[in-house]
Amino acid sequence: MNIPEKYQIKDIIAQKFYLVNGELRQWNGESSQVFSSISSTETYQPTLLGSIPNLGEKEAIESLDAAVAAYDRGQGLWPTMKVEDRISCMKKFVEQMKTKRAAVVKLLMWEIGKNLPDSEKEFDRTVDYIYDTIEDYKQMDRDSAKFEKHSGVNAHIRRGPLGVVLCLGPYNYPLNETFALLIPALIMGNTAIFKPAKFGVLLLCPLLEAFQNSFPKGVVNIIFGRGRTVANPIMKDGRVDVLALIGHSNSANALQSVHPKSNRLRMVLGLEAKNPAIVLEDADLDLAIDECIAGTTSFNGQRCTALKVLYVHESVVEEFNKRFSQKVDALKFGNPWEDGAQLTPLPEPNKPAYIQELIDDALEKGGKIINQKGGVTTDNYIFPAVVYPVTKNMRVYEEEQFGPIIPIISFSDIEEPLDDMAASNYGQQVSLFGKDVQTLAPLIDTLVNLVCRVNLNSSCQRGPDVYPFTGRKDSAVGTLSVHDALRSFSIRTFLASKDNAYNNAILKNLMDAKASNFVSTDYLL
Ligand code: G3H
Repeated sequence: MNIPEKYQIKDIIAQKFYLVNGELRQWNGESSQVFSSISSTETYQPTLLGSIPNLGEKEAIESLDAAVAAYDRGQGLWPTMKVEDRISCMKKFVEQMKTKRAAVVKLLMWEIGKNLPDSEKEFDRTVDYIYDTIEDYKQMDRDSAKFEKHSGVNAHIRRGPLGVVLCLGPYNYPLNETFALLIPALIMGNTAIFKPAKFGVLLLCPLLEAFQNSFPKGVVNIIFGRGRTVANPIMKDGRVDVLALIGHSNSANALQSVHPKSNRLRMVLGLEAKNPAIVLEDADLDLAIDECIAGTTSFNGQRCTALKVLYVHESVVEEFNKRFSQKVDALKFGNPWEDGAQLTPLPEPNKPAYIQELIDDALEKGGKIINQKGGVTTDNYIFPAVVYPVTKNMRVYEEEQFGPIIPIISFSDIEEPLDDMAASNYGQQVSLFGKDVQTLAPLIDTLVNLVCRVNLNSSCQRGPDVYPFTGRKDSAVGTLSVHDALRSFSIRTFLASKDNAYNNAILKNLMDAKASNFVSTDYLL
C-alpha cells in the first residue's frame, strides 16, 4: 500500500486522558479501540488508529458538576468575565489550535475518510469561524455599549449566557460542526460539556491541552464514551440548560425527553434533511449536472446539506440521466490523500450494506441502476448508484441515505415536487435549476416557505458561514451562522432604571467607575 510518509500511521494513539474541571484526568478503565475503514496493507484490513476511554456515568456527572461549578449560577469567573478577557482566552486557544493542523488533518482523513483538500478546508474553515466569531462578538458588544431611553426608563441591554451547554457534534464534520456549536456557546459565557461523535474522536485529542490552558477550569469539559452511558445521565440530571446537537432527531428527542424540566431546556439543533434538486425544462443542463454531481457525491453524500433526491423535468430527464450517470462513473475513488480522489472510503463499516438494502428495495419496486459502476462494492465502499425511476414507495425516497445512492424522479408538473416537499418531514434547502424568471419567481416564493435556503442554479451547502443555516420541520431548531449562533447561545438581559436625577447620577458613576463588567459603554476595537 503506497501511503505518503507524512500520512502513514506510525504510532497508535492510546488516549488515556479526558478534560474535566481544568484537569487532564487519567482513565484506567475500559477503552474502545478506534479503527479506520482504510487499509494500510495490500490485503484489506481496517487499520487500528488507537483507543479512547469508555467513561461511565460517574465521570459524566463529574463533568457536569465541573461545568455547573464554573457557571456558578451565573456568578462564575467565566460568565461574569469582561468580554475582552473572554476574547483573549479564545484567541489563545485558536493560536494553539493552528499549530495542530497537520495532526488534525491527518486524523480527519483516517478516521472519517474525508479527502485531503476537504480535510484541510474543514480545519481552515473552523479557524476562520473562530476569528469571525470573535469579530462578530466585538461588534455585538459595540452595538450594546450604550443606554436607551423609552417611556421614562433607561436601559443598558446586552446578551448574556444561558448556563450549561451539552454539546454533541456529528461524525461527518467532527471538527467544524462541533466547534460551530462549542465556540459561540463558550464565547457568550456559557460553560460546556462536549462529547465527540462516534467517528472523528481521536482528532480532538491534539486539542485537549489547548482547551485546558486557554480557559478557566470547568469552562470546557471533554469526555469520551457511549452516548447512552454518558449523555443520558447528564441530561437526566436536569442541570443542563442548552442541548446543542448536530445529528439525528432521534438522538435529540431521546435526550430531550429524559431532561426533567424540558420547559427550561433550550435546544440548538441541526438535524437530518433530504434536500431535493429541481431541474426545470429550461435549465442549463451542463451547469445543473455539475452542481448535482457536487451536491450528491461530495464526501460520498455524507452531508446534511447533500442533494438526496433529484427531480428532473420529463422533457430533459433522458439527457440528464445519460450525462449525469457518465459523470458519476468518471469520479475517482481513492484513499483520502490520493490526488483527485473525489470518492473515498466510508467510515461506517455497515454503510455499504445499508446502501445495498436501499438499492435492492428500489430494484424490487421497479427502479434501475442507470450507471455502469453503480453499486459495485469493495471492502470499504459502494460506488454511487444512480437509481431511476424512483417512486414514493421506495425506502430511498423516504430515508435520508447519507451515503452514495442517488435517486432520480421525473416530473411533468411542478406541483409534484412541491407537494412532495410540503409533505416531507424535512425542510432544510433546495436547489432550483432554470432561467425563465416568470417561472422562477412564483416558485421561489413558494420554496422559501418550504425550506430555509433556495439555491438557484447551485448545489445546496451550509457555507459561507456568515449566512443563516437552519431548517424547518425535522431539519433544525434554532439558527446557526457566525452571527446567529451568538444569539442562539445567549439571551437578552439588561439593567433598567427610571429616568430621574437620583438614578441617573448612579448610572453615571457606574460607568465612570468601570467596576461592572456588564455595564460598560467602552468600545472594543
Ligand atoms: O452535514 C452538514 C453540514 O452542515 C454541511 O455543510 O454544506 O458545508 O458541507 P456543507
